[in-house]
Amino acid sequence: MKKRKFLITAGPTREYMDPVRFISNASSGKMGYLIAEEALKKGNIVTLISGPTCLKPPLKTRVISIISAEDMHKEVRKCFPECDVFISCAAVSDYKPLRFEKSKIKKSSQVMTIKLAPTSDILKSATESKTKKGKIIVGFALETENIIKNARKKLYEKSLDIVIANPSESMESDKSEAAVILKNGEIIKLKKSPKKIIAKKILKIISDYADGKID
Ligand code: C5P
Repeated sequence: MKKRKFLITAGPTREYMDPVRFISNASSGKMGYLIAEEALKKGNIVTLISGPTCLKPPLKTRVISIISAEDMHKEVRKCFPECDVFISCAAVSDYKPLRFEKSKIKKSSQVMTIKLAPTSDILKSATESKTKKGKIIVGFALETENIIKNARKKLYEKSLDIVIANPSESMESDKSEAAVILKNGEIIKLKKSPKKIIAKKILKIISDYADGKID
């Protein structure tokens, strides 16, 4: 099997509003870390850009730890040109507080309004900057309803090769189910199993796609 350079993002991002409070989500980072482990087992070179998680990264992985979506974007921009396969598994926060207060915001009994600004779409800007032919880009879509329809929309809007759709119950869980949607419209359903098994199957599909065994 050909040795490839994998770039994988994993975990949540944190968007701070003051030195102690932030907006984030419940992503554990498990799926990204397990895919990294599988890619390594198959002899690939792996760079993992990770938001804050409690996980131990697989040995022999180059790990870049980040906090915010902006940090992650900066690191992806640096690493993306060199990679053969980019897997955007991270649950990037879609919004960040418009203002960062240098001192801890004082508690009051008044209703407080926080203005949020959208973060930049790291995956979309990566595909837009793609110059190398044959580079494979994989996204994830965590959905609460119309899972396949919404995931397929992301596949086209973000010009992905593959999108992996999973239900919101996958978050923080040790188990997951998934529908792997290929650019040609084909859907491969992966039944509910431990994330380790799902990661192995996802890696196999990505490798077969990269080897031209499926299109
Ligand atoms: O948030 P959304 O459902 O659009 O996420 C779909 C894909 O886009 C995921 O692969 C995620 O890692 C990526 N994403 C990103 N930057 C964002 C939001 C999402 O790279 N700001």
